[in-house]
Amino acid sequence: MTTAPLRVGIIGSGIGRSHAEGYATQSRVTIAAIAGLDERSKTLAASYGARHYGEYAELLAQSDIDAVSVCVPNGLHAEVTLAALAAGKHVLVEKPLARTPAEGESMLAAAKAAGKILMISFNHRQRSDVQYIKQIIESGRLGRIYYAKSYWMRRAGIPGINSWFVNKNMAGGGPLIDLGVHMLDIAMYLMGEPTPVAVNAATYAEFGPRGQKGMNSVRQTVAGQYEVEDLATAMIRLDGGATLQLETSWASHGPNGDDFGIILYGTEGGAELKVVDYHNVKTVRIFYDEANGTPVDLVPNIKPGGGHVDVINNFVAAILDGAPAIPSAEDGLRRTQVIDACYRSSAEGREIRL
Ligand SMILES: NC(=O)c1ccc[n+]([C@@H]2O[C@H](COP(=O)([O-])OP(=O)(O)OC[C@H]3O[C@@H](n4cnc5c(N)ncnc54)[C@H](O)[C@@H]3O)[C@@H](O)[C@H]2O)c1
Repeated sequence: MTTAPLRVGIIGSGIGRSHAEGYATQSRVTIAAIAGLDERSKTLAASYGARHYGEYAELLAQSDIDAVSVCVPNGLHAEVTLAALAAGKHVLVEKPLARTPAEGESMLAAAKAAGKILMISFNHRQRSDVQYIKQIIESGRLGRIYYAKSYWMRRAGIPGINSWFVNKNMAGGGPLIDLGVHMLDIAMYLMGEPTPVAVNAATYAEFGPRGQKGMNSVRQTVAGQYEVEDLATAMIRLDGGATLQLETSWASHGPNGDDFGIILYGTEGGAELKVVDYHNVKTVRIFYDEANGTPVDLVPNIKPGGGHVDVINNFVAAILDGAPAIPSAEDGLRRTQVIDACYRSSAEGREIRL
């Protein structure tokens, strides 16, 4: 049993910065070390008074570290997680769990064998507005949800036109595995974890190969061409007959710079989450009809919050208090299975049964 203070290490300093901010809110946690190959990692370590290591293996060799956040490129999630579990650490891995279901399965099996916590950072599910919609659904207000459309569409948001994000081997895919995995997670979570039975997907690469619509961001450069999609759409059939439409792009001639959300259609009511350009005010609307047929739109005032801070709170509580590890690695694996089926469906031009 690990006891407080929990000594954590963070591997990777892009989104790793949000993990550091989350751990810093925890009174029972010490940020012991940060690993990363870039200058940002050194600066981040210094700002938290933590030790800095370059290669992740150096950090994992430290016996005074109980748990790690794995915030490295997708293609290293399995390798670093397996090494961390073998070194006796609990692991919080960034999304997506892995590039493929086989990689994900190996990670879950290793965590079980090691008797350590493995959790995934689906931070958007923990947003206060998503949690609000979850409560409305659980109250029965929307009835049975039979259709949902979940999306994350950017106009010019390829996260580094020469970076690991556009390298198929390092990323596993484009916006579908990057942004779509969040929106698939939110949808499945809100719909009550129905089992996906079939997917029919298509992917496109219209701007990336022309070197267009990149974001200004500091990322590891990877030699090579643009190898992933820049837009994907999928129709997902769920057991019980409900369907989910999932849409995602890094680059498109769409109306908004960055636009993500979900619309849920229930037999008694509907709900919408819409976040344009990360503007976090009035993001939710609830729709239903009065008994006399008058349509009602509710716009609740929800205090922005949640996200990585809540994910890290859950990770710490899972390790120190035996609380449930939510969002679970099992959820991460289920999302990876669907994303993988979407890529196969697109490549083969047909519906894939799961
Ligand atoms: N949950 C979210 O909202 C969110 C947002 C952004 C990224 N992510 C995920 O986080 C992961 C990282 O993405 P990013 O945007 O931070 O990427 P990034 O390129 O900005 O950062 C990657 C970090 O990993 C480090 N790294 C790479 N190889 C390493 C090694 N061998 N040893 C030690 N450190 C190593 C780099 O030095 C760098 O600090 C990805 O899986 C991505 O999907 C999640």
